[in-house]
Amino acid sequence: MRPYAIEVIGLKKSFGKQVVLDGVDLMVPTGSVYALLGPNGAGKTTLINILSTLVAADDGEVKIAGYDVRRELDEVKRSISLTGQFAAVDEKLTAEENLNMIGRLCGLTKPEAHLRTSELLNHFDLMASAKKQVHTYSGGMRRRLDLAISLVISRPVLFLDEPTTGLDTTSRRVLWEIILNLKQQGITIFLTTQYLEEADQLADIISVINGGRIVATGTAEELKSRVGGEVIELRNAKDEVIRTIPTSGDMQDIRFTLNEIANKLPHDTKVSLRKPSMDDVFVALTSNSMQVEESIS
Ligand SMILES: Nc1ncnc2c1ncn2[C@@H]1O[C@H](COP(=O)(O)OP(=O)(O)O)[C@@H](O)[C@H]1O
Ligand SMILES: [Mg+2]
Repeated sequence: MRPYAIEVIGLKKSFGKQVVLDGVDLMVPTGSVYALLGPNGAGKTTLINILSTLVAADDGEVKIAGYDVRRELDEVKRSISLTGQFAAVDEKLTAEENLNMIGRLCGLTKPEAHLRTSELLNHFDLMASAKKQVHTYSGGMRRRLDLAISLVISRPVLFLDEPTTGLDTTSRRVLWEIILNLKQQGITIFLTTQYLEEADQLADIISVINGGRIVATGTAEELKSRVGGEVIELRNAKDEVIRTIPTSGDMQDIRFTLNEIANKLPHDTKVSLRKPSMDDVFVALTSNSMQVEESIS
């Protein structure tokens, strides 16, 4: 087995004069969950579209399962599934009909398509609504069906563009379980997200993208430790956080920082120390100014 399911070197993409991807390098180990985390407009969808062959890059090299997206397009297409293309789902058909249809389109025989359909309906907990038209589905059910449809034919690499955006907490957790289950089957999963918790909970490796560049890559723990040793958190009398200040974690630094701010704060301010969160990581890596530091009340 290849060590990396996805290899990207020096990827560039502009729309007109706007540079959207400005030299992206990334490596996704086979069998891992990889999260691309970034704010709106960071270039996540553009990147996932290039990796999944929907959009051509201007420059750079992309290999999926060892195949070059430019020179071996058919092999790449046979190695991937992609969720986020809603065109495939017919709203007037039931989930069962949709899954059967896709199965047939992908070349399964009638009995094979039926078997795969009932497996997927079971797996994605859609059995009870299998005979209802898709337009009656809730957001969470719809997302599960999208995922089920992209898995009719089992492929080694799965792309998910913001799979849980707009879902409630419960549906999000159901989807996370499904994703981890797919990982256990050996599928490599590349997903984009704006949710820090999602990256933290799901991903083996997280890359943070900002302004068309990968600004950091690592496990959640590694990224958090990069932000510093401890974060000073200041709360007001109502126990609301009024300010957080990253420190190196050593005594001198913490004492110096507290001395600096002590006489500028109300007397009832409460001070605590905590480990950095994904939130701190995100702010530290994606804020282009120091405004966050200045936002003291
Ligand atoms: N087809 C396109 N034509 C022109 N600009 C585009 C196109 N697709 C994306 N962009 C621009 O590229 C930037 C990145 O978009 P996108 O990749 O969708 O970011 P994200 O998914 O991280 O929110 C945005 O400024 C967006 O307006
Ligand atoms: Mg997007």
